[in-house]
This record gives sequence, C-alpha cells and structure tokens, in this order.
Amino acid sequence: MQNVPEHIYTPQGAEADQSPIVVASESMLSREDRWSQMGQKGGVVWLTGLSASGKSTISRNLEWQLHQEGRKVFALDGDNLRLGLCDDLGFSEKDRNENLRRAGHVALLMAEAGLIVLCAFISPYNLQRSELRTLCGQRGIPFFEVYVNTSIEVCEKRDPKGLYKRARDGKILGMTGYDSPYEPPSNPDLTLLTNETSITDAVARLRKALETAGWL
Ligand code: ADX
Repeated sequence: MQNVPEHIYTPQGAEADQSPIVVASESMLSREDRWSQMGQKGGVVWLTGLSASGKSTISRNLEWQLHQEGRKVFALDGDNLRLGLCDDLGFSEKDRNENLRRAGHVALLMAEAGLIVLCAFISPYNLQRSELRTLCGQRGIPFFEVYVNTSIEVCEKRDPKGLYKRARDGKILGMTGYDSPYEPPSNPDLTLLTNETSITDAVARLRKALETAGWL
C-alpha cells in the first residue's frame, strides 16, 4: 500500500479491525507554550440572537477596542463564513447545525492558538449552543455565551439587509424569528438588551463581564 495516504486507505479483510484510520498528530508545542507567547489566554465568546439584533456590530466594536488595547482578537461572523467555508449550506435546521459545527471548530482552533474569538452567529437552537459549550469544555477552552436580546419587532424595523421585508413578501422562506424558530438561551453568561441599550453601552457591558470572568 505504499504511496497511498493513510487517511484515504480503507483497510480490508484481516487488516480491517487492527487500528483506526485517522490518528491525531501531536504538536511539540503545548497550549501553555502558545498562550504564554501570545501573552493571553484564548477563548470563545459566542454571541447569539436574531438577525439584525446587533451581534456583529457589538462584536466588531469590541474587536476594535480589544485590538487597541493590545489583545489578540478575531471576530468570526456568520455572514462572512457563509461566503466561504460554509457557502454550500442553506438555512434548514440540518444546514444550520453543520454551519455551527464548522464555525465552532474554527473558533476552537483559533482559541487554541491563543486568540480571543468573538463569534456572531444567529445559532437559533439550544442544542447547537450547548454542543458548542460542551465541545469547548472537552478541550479546556473557555466559552462565554452572550444573548443579544433584541425583540423581533425592533429587528424587523431595523432590517438593514431587507431580509425581513423579503420574508414578509414571501421571497425567502425560513427566516429566523419570522417563519423559523429562535430558542432564547436559558442560561447565558450575559444578556444584552439592545432594545434599551446603545451599542457603546452593550460593548462596555460585555467588556466588563469578560474582565470580571477573568478573560482580560
Ligand atoms: S445560523 O442560523 O446558521 O447561525 P448565520 O449566523 O450563520 O445563521 O447566518 C445568518 C445570516 O444569514 C443573517 O445575518 C442573514 O444576513 C443571512 N440570512 C439569509 N437567509 C436567512 C434566513 N432564512 N434566516 C436567517 N438569516 C438569514
């Protein structure tokens, strides 16, 4: 079987039970090596909420602010990922699950490298978010869930991309909060009520909460 990469070689017959086909390769660097060189701990901050709730705006502003302070930070955004890594996925429950599975693994890798990763994804289902928390927990990566709680009425009024209008006109189906469910988190680490709070205040509250939780 020479020249056949191990991961695409499927053992047959007597060999079939012998060993796993994919075996993780070990780095010579530990997490401690990476994080101490970065001068910070990595972690995943997960912002969930309806489309137009303010997730991306909050995350972009916090990304800028933390960068100014010298932190190593990266904002991962649902729309952006859907233009690349996830451009084969739609908005069925199955596709959203896959979208978030990929996003979660990307965030995890970036956090492992020592970045504070700010993730803005609708992530409408409780199960998806609890799986992300479990995934991070299993790998020892800090996870902080933020519920950007903005009412559907306010989101519909803002409608910066015209998606709610298109949903009302029957031009798109499965719009979250309109004809597709959004399950609010039952126990988020932080809730930001953006109906009542300015973006500046929301960013300040999130920054403070991360500081209190020992992230900064
Ligand atoms: S998620 O549900 O899988 O977490 P994600 O955050 O990646 O969603 O992408 C949401 C973005 O896709 C929205 O900001 C919006 O611009 C766009 N979008 C297009 N169609 C839909 C839809 N049916 N429901 C929600 N968002 C949609």
